[in-house]
Amino acid sequence: MKKTSNPLLAAVCALALSVTYADAATPSATASKNAPIPRLMQQNGHYALMVDGKPFTMLGVQAHNSSNYPGALDKVWAAVKDVHANTLEIPVAWEQIEPVEGKFDFSYVDTLVAQARQKGVRLVLLWFGTWKNTGPAYTPEWVKFDNQRFPRMIDKDGKTGYCLTPLSEQTLKADTKAFVALMTHLKKIDEAKHTVIMVQVENEVGTYGSVRDFGPKAEAAFRQPVPQSVLARKKSPVPGAASGTWSEVYGPYADEYFHAYAIASYIEEVAKAGRAVYDLPMYVNNALRDPVEPMAPWKNNFSSGGPGYDVVDIYKAAAPHIDIVAPDIYISESHKVNAVLTQFQRPDNALFVPEMGNAATYARYVYQIIGKGALGVAPFGFDYASYSNYPLGSKYTDRRMIEPFARIYDVFAPMQRVWAKWAFEGRTHGVAEGDDRAPQVVKMNGWDLRLTFREFQFGESEHQQGRTDFPEGTEKPSGGVAIAQIGPDEFVFVGQQIRLKLTGTGPNAGKPTGYARVEEGHFGADGKWVMERNWNGDQTDYGLNLPATPTVLKVRMGSY
Ligand code: DGJ
Repeated sequence: MKKTSNPLLAAVCALALSVTYADAATPSATASKNAPIPRLMQQNGHYALMVDGKPFTMLGVQAHNSSNYPGALDKVWAAVKDVHANTLEIPVAWEQIEPVEGKFDFSYVDTLVAQARQKGVRLVLLWFGTWKNTGPAYTPEWVKFDNQRFPRMIDKDGKTGYCLTPLSEQTLKADTKAFVALMTHLKKIDEAKHTVIMVQVENEVGTYGSVRDFGPKAEAAFRQPVPQSVLARKKSPVPGAASGTWSEVYGPYADEYFHAYAIASYIEEVAKAGRAVYDLPMYVNNALRDPVEPMAPWKNNFSSGGPGYDVVDIYKAAAPHIDIVAPDIYISESHKVNAVLTQFQRPDNALFVPEMGNAATYARYVYQIIGKGALGVAPFGFDYASYSNYPLGSKYTDRRMIEPFARIYDVFAPMQRVWAKWAFEGRTHGVAEGDDRAPQVVKMNGWDLRLTFREFQFGESEHQQGRTDFPEGTEKPSGGVAIAQIGPDEFVFVGQQIRLKLTGTGPNAGKPTGYARVEEGHFGADGKWVMERNWNGDQTDYGLNLPATPTVLKVRMGSY
């Protein structure tokens, strides 16, 4: 790759950088009437969530499960404001919009959408319908307690389980009707403004304790041939027939895969009907199976039939109206987070993290996730409702929970539009400090970036063998950086608690290189770069040492 010492290329890069977005700082929830509907776009395997026709980085949070009532919203908005989020994910429960069959009440949705607009915050609505964490808790009473009309699954021993079967036409019809009513109402109140930018269909589907439904209808379907659409996408992990019944093709995986297909097909019908009315992007989320243990058939160790990494292809085959299969990350170990992000970021599947623990240890993953070009991220349980889901998330329910994320969202908020554009162009990378605190290397065009942790800002650690003191605030891993290569030799770094060093590779290999500019600054309300100072001397002699406070650098390298 050529270098910006070429004046023509430098001008092109400067032009690229000057692209600005009017609402970069304040995510407007009042788009003009002509603004196009939110949608997902893909180019060369990179994705953008287009909001008002431009790439958008969702700096989200998800409210607690029971905060979906007008009386609870004040405590939600207060936290959303404190954390500087631009998007709130919040449930809409079937039980609240259709408490009596056929009688719909959208007063909560109306209040929610109106308040979101006042606050300048976008919404992602979570449809808690037939399944919420696999169970029917959010179905209306007339569904929950009528097992004749809305049957539960039957387990291998013939016992009635807790989970509604995906093979009931009655349940599918009723859920679809309610979801279509919701989307119809949403279109009426929000089509001109697009406050709501995405919809999650159901919540963490699948089944615990039974690999699939063993009722008579399920048994008959299980003996049918695997549909061609599934065969075309999902190869068996073990030698099996190229076609035939589920057991013939998928052997010991057949039960789980059949159940995944049944649930995905059900979700497809709900999503398809909803999108026919109002075509917002839609996704499913999932409770993860262990991402690093060797893949093996279900043995009561994860929610069978949920959209885990092994069955993404089955969901893609069965549910084309679902844009994204998304992981909910409640595993804090860094090697597992790395594995999950790799499993779900695929050329056919945009990376999006709709839930993540809200404990401080997860904050550094925001850099990694946004840096990897995700559409967005939303730590879970961000409101002041005095409820903590510790140990999944933070122990705190006050500003101490908010703070580690607020500092990071604060620096990304004004630049979220330009960041989303770079991500869509495939220019970005993201790193979080590993639990092992070990150095990491990011390979870019013409440059390697070496990242080290727990370094004092002055001096080289290799000259300090056996040291026992470390910088304050680095007792636990908290470092991270999101990187955008905005020109051949030019970078934007957003990060904290990390040392960065660039080495030339490819056309720059073997040449003496140095910093041309190391500007610290921020992106202004208009999305333009605002330089505050230029780092030199001590500030660059030992690499670029990003402090505990999230810092934005715009760096240009030179060589001779
Ligand atoms: C994941 C679910 O999707 C959330 O609704 C919530 O139940 C969390 N688990 C646990 O707090």
